[in-house]
Amino acid sequence: MNDVPRNDLFLRACRREKTERTPVWIMRQAGRYLPDYRAVRAEYDFLTMVKTPELAAKVTVQPVDIIGVDAAILFSDIMVIPEAMGMHLEMVEKRGPVLRDPIRSSASADALRIPDPANELSYVLDGIRATQELLDRRVPLIGFSGSPWTLFAYMVEGSGSRDFRHAKSMVYGDPDLARRVLDKITQAVGDYMVAQAEAGADALQIFDSWGGALPPEQFAEFSLSYIERIVERLRSTGVPVIVFCRGASHSYGRIAESGCHVVGVDWTTGIDDARKAVGNKAAVQGNLDPTILFAGPEKVREGVADVLRRVGRGGGHVFNLGHGILPETPVENVHALIRAVADLSPQYHEG
Ligand code: CP3
Repeated sequence: MNDVPRNDLFLRACRREKTERTPVWIMRQAGRYLPDYRAVRAEYDFLTMVKTPELAAKVTVQPVDIIGVDAAILFSDIMVIPEAMGMHLEMVEKRGPVLRDPIRSSASADALRIPDPANELSYVLDGIRATQELLDRRVPLIGFSGSPWTLFAYMVEGSGSRDFRHAKSMVYGDPDLARRVLDKITQAVGDYMVAQAEAGADALQIFDSWGGALPPEQFAEFSLSYIERIVERLRSTGVPVIVFCRGASHSYGRIAESGCHVVGVDWTTGIDDARKAVGNKAAVQGNLDPTILFAGPEKVREGVADVLRRVGRGGGHVFNLGHGILPETPVENVHALIRAVADLSPQYHEG
């Protein structure tokens, strides 16, 4: 286990302990809205940055230095797992990740490998160590992975998709094959996340970006049940686990029952309703609409005030956006967000 970071507000909020104010970080905080990120990105392509520990560490720390967030999240991508399992990955400008020869048959499922994180993913573990060096225990470092279902969706489609026709067809038409692939991904993700905690990640987030592509019953069976297995495996690491399932507000109560420490809330629900569904089983994280950051500092402050008021008193809240920050976001409005959380949240923690 690491020493406690000097600013440990985020870790305390994850464990629903008392804090003086609400901690805040921003999904996709190491990214293109920051001129400093774009300056590094102008020199290297995305995957080179991801695979070079010193570069990953450098951009991971930028939002800590420039924006003043209460936690860093490792600069990496969820797509490193499909690549480590043997698929060919390319990041295509304006289109996103593309995986060659998507998994549509028993034979291609059998060919997927379970990577040894210390080998195929050593650059991530080295990135965690390099980042901890730069952070010097100022704030905690979050590691992450895609959820099995979200990785499955990309691996079966071969890219992002509007309707996930191929991935969902397998769920409905050949559920045994879908389960076989999901089992393998779950093994790989579990090994990977345990290795991140052992390398020094202070917390771990599971991104189920496409959980909302499934109806509630299929979500429970083909996404949440695999997430549960990973949360269970991570228990022995002792680090807090955040589960963020986008578009799955129908299941926040069930997500909280996975044993995770924090339930991520997207911007389509009131965080007061999410908190009711979660009850006293977990903390909540979220959920300001990322696009409010285009409306100017006053609107941002009103938005922050509304989220804090809905959460109310008593802690167990990590402030965040309800999904990733958009690349064109004006940086001054991000500063306004951090300021508003600092100014407006202490009143909810008094007494
Ligand atoms: O949050 C952070 O700052 C850490 C870094 C991080 C990235 N991707 C960097 C990135 C994290 C946590 C992710 C997670 C991720 N990646 C998710 C889950 C979160 C979510 O948004 O739902 C998903 C679905 C992906 C897959 C992915 N990676 C897509 C769809 C894209 C293309 C879209 C885009 O934003 O360009 C990426 C590329 C990517 N990942 C970039 C960054 C900073 C942009 C690459 C660039 O600089 O050109």
